[in-house]
Formats: sequence, structure tokens, C-alpha cells
Amino acid sequence: MAPSAAASASSTLLVLLALLLSPAVSPAAAAPQSRHRLGASLQQVASPNASEPPTTFFEVDRPIRPPRGSAGPCSTLLLSATFGATYGRPPVTADYVPPACLGAAGGTLALAVLEWAADCRGRQFDRIFGVWLSGAELLRSCTAEPRPNGILWSVSRDVTRYAALLAEPGEVAVYLGNLIDKTYTGVYHANLTLHLYFHAEPQQQQQQQQQADLIVPISRSLPLNDGQWFAIQNATDVQSKKLAIPSNTYRAVLEVFVSFHSNDEFWYTNPPDDYIQANNLSSVPGNGAFREVVARVDGEVVGAVWPFTVIYTGGVNPLLWRPITGIGSFNLPTYDIDITPFLGKLLDGKEHDFGFGVTNALDVWYIDANLHLWLDHKSEKTTGSLLSYDASGLDLNVSSEFTGLDGQFVTSASRHVSATGWVKSSFGEVTTTFYQRFSYENSNVFRKNATVQIVNQTIDAKSGIFAKDASAVLLTKEFHEIFPLYLYTGTSDQVGDEYSLDSIVKFGINAKKTSGGNLGFLYSSLRNAQSAQGTMKVKKNLVVSGLGKTHQVYKYVGTDGCYFRDVSSKNYTVLFDRSDDSCSKGAYRGASAKLNDQPARRKLLANK
Ligand SMILES: *[C@@H]1O[C@H](CO)[C@@H](O)[C@H](O)[C@H]1NC(C)=O
Ligand SMILES: *[C@@H]1O[C@H](CO)[C@@H](O)[C@H](O)[C@H]1NC(C)=O
Ligand SMILES: *[C@@H]1O[C@H](CO)[C@@H](O)[C@H](O)[C@H]1NC(C)=O
Ligand SMILES: *[C@@H]1O[C@H](CO)[C@@H](O)[C@H](O)[C@H]1NC(C)=O
Ligand SMILES: *[C@@H]1O[C@H](CO)[C@@H](O)[C@H](O)[C@H]1NC(C)=O
Ligand SMILES: *[C@@H]1O[C@H](CO)[C@@H](O)[C@H](O)[C@H]1NC(C)=O
Ligand SMILES: *[C@@H]1O[C@H](CO)[C@@H](O)[C@H](O)[C@H]1NC(C)=O
Ligand SMILES: *[C@@H]1O[C@H](CO)[C@@H](O)[C@H](O)[C@H]1NC(C)=O
Repeated sequence: MAPSAAASASSTLLVLLALLLSPAVSPAAAAPQSRHRLGASLQQVASPNASEPPTTFFEVDRPIRPPRGSAGPCSTLLLSATFGATYGRPPVTADYVPPACLGAAGGTLALAVLEWAADCRGRQFDRIFGVWLSGAELLRSCTAEPRPNGILWSVSRDVTRYAALLAEPGEVAVYLGNLIDKTYTGVYHANLTLHLYFHAEPQQQQQQQQQADLIVPISRSLPLNDGQWFAIQNATDVQSKKLAIPSNTYRAVLEVFVSFHSNDEFWYTNPPDDYIQANNLSSVPGNGAFREVVARVDGEVVGAVWPFTVIYTGGVNPLLWRPITGIGSFNLPTYDIDITPFLGKLLDGKEHDFGFGVTNALDVWYIDANLHLWLDHKSEKTTGSLLSYDASGLDLNVSSEFTGLDGQFVTSASRHVSATGWVKSSFGEVTTTFYQRFSYENSNVFRKNATVQIVNQTIDAKSGIFAKDASAVLLTKEFHEIFPLYLYTGTSDQVGDEYSLDSIVKFGINAKKTSGGNLGFLYSSLRNAQSAQGTMKVKKNLVVSGLGKTHQVYKYVGTDGCYFRDVSSKNYTVLFDRSDDSCSKGAYRGASAKLNDQPARRKLLANK
């Protein structure tokens, strides 16, 4: 930082923000030379003896259970790779041949799980990576940061919804942009395995219809010296792909993958531009604290994603995430937008433009999508029309009050999208409504001459699907997610290039899902919350000492089972770890497959 008066007036803030916003946390997104700290810093903190056993990192999630009575797994190694100097190089690829057991099973696939297992030793940043099959993304994830004694971790994702893709030959691609030098020595080794489970007998057609017949990637094609995601660099940048869909499509769902990096890695802490200008903070990322991904078809908004605030494994204070990693960091959430109401415009056999932009974006957002399509096997052509459409646009208010470096910014936003359209196929004429209703509130406070920053944010996202034909309700689905976030950071004892940072992070996902209709009644409720607290002493961008403590409570209750886990870690050590998968303790009872769905359906309809 320059020694001028203006620069030194903002130096504390810059240190604070640099720490929070440093691209070091996810350097795959930034220019290599702009990466510094956090990752590197850890070399001096409680470095274990290199001959001690490796540490196992994990993300708390409910186990993926094969359906009762199913056989398996039939496991196939898809790819085994080493990621050394891979930044800006082509993804690692391997031919994909559908496993013989899948062909032999003749459409009785019960569950498909993609497992990433990796190790690393030495010192390295956290790196974002993606796994694609024939251009469709199957996993977006972040690596764990290694230690001198080595680390191990694995992540599993249910990929059953890609059954159509798994049945065809293709190409697996993994991009993990890593850099190796004298300081950052960690090389990642990874195995990617597909585990398949099968039903004993062919399932009813209705059950099969849960998965799409065709998955069309909306991503960049190889060859590339990068991931197949689009890189969105600013607020006006819209990245898109033109594609034609089969003329006998009767249902379409866009599944969006999102991660944010560099200047927008901590977008929810960014102050407004008027504050940055008034304080001459030229290197502090701004554009305020609101972001959303907007999906468009032929330029029209079809839906949005108000993303969960994933904190990567080096984020805020890297010592917080060892060995319990941040929610979503090993398995980033994806977001579904049902575009069935718009099919009428897309069934003409011509190419249409599927595009993504990010409101207020700073460099850089990695976004792509999979278009899940259901095809009418009994006809060559379906027809449809949009009946009503309302995308009134974003409502965004910012109140900005500050004196010098201290101030408070309150941002609130809302958006509503809804569309209704019919599609005529051999199933009859089905009218589908899809809606999304978002609200957002962010308070961003700078205190004590901006040595303290407190962010408190809530995202509330509701969506629903309602499908009916002339005689009956075929499907109702409602999904409600709340993402609370509280982030406190305080710098102290600043002398020259040394300072201390205290941090508190509390965030989580509260989600409720209900669905009714042909497939029966399904319900689930998730409360997943982390509360983390840490300190670190930093010298010349190196953490010379520090401590992190994290407590996580995960509670899932659903018609498909229950899972509870209460786990805490401090200084790389698990303090306690309690889990339970029974549905007994005041959990959802009586929600068996035999449950009569009528009352629930009526309630859903009454809410409309
Ligand atoms: C605020 O911090 C800057 C250094 O970052 C310092 O120059 C200035 O005097 C401080 N102001 C107050 C009121 O402490
Ligand atoms: C590291 O651990 C090994 C085996 O536990 C031991 O023999 C060695 O002395 C240790 N080295 C240090 C520097 O503590
Ligand atoms: C990958 O698989 C090989 C062969 O089974 C095994 O030796 C290696 O330890 C595995 N690596 C990881 C990171 O799981
Ligand atoms: C936004 O990003 C696009 C794509 O990189 C670029 O072409 C355009 O010039 C940028 N616009 C601004 C205002 O920086
Ligand atoms: C910002 O820079 C301008 C022009 O160099 C200067 O007039 C102003 O005093 C500076 N403001 C602060 C808060 O340092
Ligand atoms: C923004 O302000 C207007 C006018 O005060 C108000 O009507 C609207 O509800 C506000 N929107 C949000 C999202 O708070
Ligand atoms: C964050 O703000 C909400 C709403 O104003 C409030 O209920 C909550 O207590 C705040 N959280 C913290 C940790 O201050
Ligand atoms: C953290 O654990 C290491 C051993 O793994 C120990 O040497 C160190 O003193 C601990 N730090 C604190 C602050 O408890």
C-alpha cells in the first residue's frame, strides 16, 4: 500500500478487506500474480510433523442412501488424475463408456453417486474445480487446503438425475486450476468414481419419469484452457449459448451451477461505490452487497438464482474450516428453474438463446447450466403456448450513511417471476405454472474507523411448480429456502505490516420442500447451521498464529428419512460428533410412502 496520507487513512480498511476479499481464497479465478496469503499463511500455524498421519477433512451432509432392496454398488473408476501446474491448461479428460452393469440392468437404475476422493500434501490455496460429462456439469467444488502431513477428503453427489447422460458414451472433463512454486507445493491427486445401484425389478413408468430423457449442456465446449463454465466479469456481461431442443419436449428444467470469486468472492461484504469514492479506496471491490444470477431465454427473464453464500476452505480465517469445511464448499448447491411454461416458444426446431448475467457483478462469476428435457416418446411434435408471464424486474433499495470510513449500508431487494403455459403431448394438454419470489436484506456496518465490519444478511427464496390437465392436478411442488449470514471481522494491534484479526461467522441453510401429485406426497425440512469463531495474527501476509473453532448442527427430516448431526471442531481436532438417523425424536412421524396425499395436496392448492 502506498505511503500517502490518503492511502494510509484507508490502510486498515484495505487490510481488512484484502483479507476478506483476497483472491487468494479462490485463486483459480484470478490472475496468478494477484494471489497472496491465507493459504500460504498456514505454514507456520501448528504445523504437524510431516510423518504424522494425514488429516481427513469433511463437509457435514446427510448420507446418500440406496433405496431399500436395491443391489449395488457397481463401481467404476472414471478418472484418476494429478493436478500440479494445471492453471490455464486444458481440463483433464477421459473417455466415458457406460459401465456394463448399467447396460445389463435395462432401465432399473435406482441411484447413481459420483464420488470425488482426493489427497494433497504441503502448502496450497483452495482451488475451485468442476466435473463435466459430455459438457454437462456434474459437480462444482472447492479443494481442501493441505498440511505438511497431508490431507484427505471426499465428496459424493447424487447424480441419478443425469441417468440419460450416464447411459451414453461421452467424455469426462475435470478442470482444477492449480499452481505450483517453491511456496505453494501442494499437488492434488484425485480419483473420480461412479457408484451405481439397481432395483430388482423394472419400476413403474411414473417413477422413471422423474429423470429427464435428455440433458443438454449450456456451457462452453472443449477445447479450452479453462473450465467449461462461462466466466461473467461485470454487470453487463451476459454469456449465452444458442441451441435447439427436440420438437417433442413436454417438460424442461434449467439446473444452474454458480460460484463467485476474486472481487466478488465476498460480494455480500462489498460497500457501495459512493463510500469507496468518498474515501478514495480504489482497490476495494464495490458495487454494493447485492448480487443475483438472472437466466434469460431469447433475452427474456425466465428465472433467477439468489445464491447461497458459500465460503470456500480458505475464506475469512482458514483455520475455521479444519477439518469441518464450510456449508456447500465441497458440494456447491445448484438451482432449478422450470421453464416448461415457455416451451411453446421453443418447440419450433430452431435455435434459441440461453443466457446468464449477474446483477452488479464484479470479476468473476463461474456459471453454467444443464437443461433437463422430458420427451414425448409417443409423438414427434408437441405444441404449447405461454398463457401469462410476469417478471416485473428487480426492486432494489440502498440506504448509505457514512462519515469517513465508518458507516452503515442497508440494502433490501425483492424479485418476483411467474409464468404459466400449456403444452399438448400424448399426456394431454398440461398447464404448468412456475414462480419464484425472492427477498433479501443486508446490513453492512463499518465501525471503529473501519477496523470492524459487521455484515448481517438474509436471503429468502420461494419457488413452486403447479401442473394440471383438464381433469386433475398432476404435480405441485413448493420449495422455500432461507440463507441467514452473520459475519464479524475486527482488526486490532496494527503495527506496520502486522495485525490481528478476530472473526465470527454464522450462516446456514433452512429449506422446506413439499410435493404432491402423481408421485405421492413428499416432504422434507432441513436446518443446517454453522457457527464459527477464530483469531489469527498476521505478519507480512502470513498467519503466524491463530485458532479456529466451528460448531455445526444439521437436522434433516423428510418422508425419505431423517438425519441429525451435531459436531464441533477446534484447532484441527473434532471436539464431539453426535449423529442419529432415526426419525423418532420428535421428528416427522407417519410420513411413510403409504401416507394419504390428499390433505397435503388440498392445503397446497388452498395456498395458491
Ligand atoms: C483512522 O485510521 C487511519 C489509518 O487507517 C488514521 O490515519 C486515522 O487517524 C484514523 N482516524 C481516527 C479518527 O482514528
Ligand atoms: C516426527 O514423528 C516421527 C514419528 O512419530 C518421529 O520419529 C520424529 O522424531 C518426529 N520429528 C519431529 C521433528 O518431531
Ligand atoms: C486413487 O486410486 C488408487 C488406486 O486404487 C489409490 O492407490 C489411491 O490412493 C487413490 N487416491 C485417492 C486420492 O483416493
Ligand atoms: C464487461 O465484460 C465484457 C466481457 O468480458 C467486456 O466485453 C465488456 O467490455 C465489459 N464491460 C465493462 C463496462 O467493463
Ligand atoms: C480523495 O482524493 C481527492 C483528490 O486526490 C482529495 O481531494 C480528497 O481529499 C481525498 N479524500 C480522502 C477522504 O482522502
Ligand atoms: C424500496 O422502496 C420503495 C419506496 O420506499 C418501497 O415501495 C419498496 O417496497 C422498497 N423495496 C424493497 C425491496 O425494500
Ligand atoms: C441479523 O438481523 C436479523 C434481522 O434484523 C436479526 O433478527 C438478527 O438477530 C441479526 N443477527 C445477528 C447475529 O445480529
Ligand atoms: C493446536 O494444536 C496443536 C497440536 O496439533 C498444538 O501444538 C497447539 O498448541 C494447539 N494450539 C492451541 C492454541 O491450542
